[in-house]
Amino acid sequence: MGVVTFLSAKGSPGVTTTALLAAALWPRPALLLEADPAGGDVAARVPAADGGLLDTSRGLLPLLTAARRGLDAAAVVEQSQPVAGGSRVVLGLTGPEQAAAAGRGWAALAAAVGDLDGSTTDGDVLSADVLVDAGRVGAAPVHLDLLRASDCVVLLVRADAAAVLHARDRLRHLGNALRRRDGLLPRTGVVVVGDPGRRPADAGSAVEVLRAVGPWVEDLGRLPHDPAGAGVFAGAPVSRPERTALVRAGRTLVGGLAAALPASSGTERGSAA
Ligand SMILES: Nc1ncnc2c1ncn2[C@@H]1O[C@H](COP(=O)(O)OP(=O)(O)OP(=O)(O)O)[C@@H](O)[C@H]1O
Ligand SMILES: [Mg+2]
Repeated sequence: MGVVTFLSAKGSPGVTTTALLAAALWPRPALLLEADPAGGDVAARVPAADGGLLDTSRGLLPLLTAARRGLDAAAVVEQSQPVAGGSRVVLGLTGPEQAAAAGRGWAALAAAVGDLDGSTTDGDVLSADVLVDAGRVGAAPVHLDLLRASDCVVLLVRADAAAVLHARDRLRHLGNALRRRDGLLPRTGVVVVGDPGRRPADAGSAVEVLRAVGPWVEDLGRLPHDPAGAGVFAGAPVSRPERTALVRAGRTLVGGLAAALPASSGTERGSAA
């Protein structure tokens, strides 16, 4: 069981869509942890497993509040709920004030999700990989402990010239910020998402620019710009979602990410330029 964290830099939307895509296609039990400090939006986008509304009284806020008294994996499971598509979700916060108020709660959460194998009060035991929507990451992220505790950190990058430069800047800082006490980094890499914009960057050259930050930056895959496929994860009625370009490419991406867990839980730290 492992933790895969999705995040972005300025100019690269698509984190929540990609985290939902990964949760829907994950080959093992998956729990989506909506941990974007700017606030969550899964409750507004995705129905519960029974087709009704998700229960917004359960989620990250009660977890982070309880974290002051210590947290275990069972508490995380308790605050999760099943969503349509078969995975579970811990719904996110309402906004950055809640994220800032959580303080050290993020560190307790990071420890609790590290090896999710928890029981619920109704007797279910859940062993799951945790997929984290960490949102857009700037300087001094409040949830840095959670990022650092991940087995794999995935930076989504739009194939747009400006977005690639912002992503390069974030990677340079993450190369230091993600370093653990043992000197290792989580496995860290980029997924380039197609962009229809005015200055699209070639995905291959975008990866080349980003990998030049350090040998620890991996090329983890590609996703297409596909509004129809993205609509599946935004509550839009889409016929035959499995045929969309996004879902088809998502299968390849998810296969690679899932296969790498949990064997590669740390990589030698390379030089961050
Ligand atoms: N691969 C894609 N192709 C086309 N559109 C996409 C793709 N991924 C996301 N989108 C669209 O981009 C918009 C933003 O996506 P999303 O909410 O996933 O981004 P985000 O990074 O989570 O943003 P936020 O900072 O608001 O949380 C949505 O309208 C979504 O449908
Ligand atoms: Mg989002």
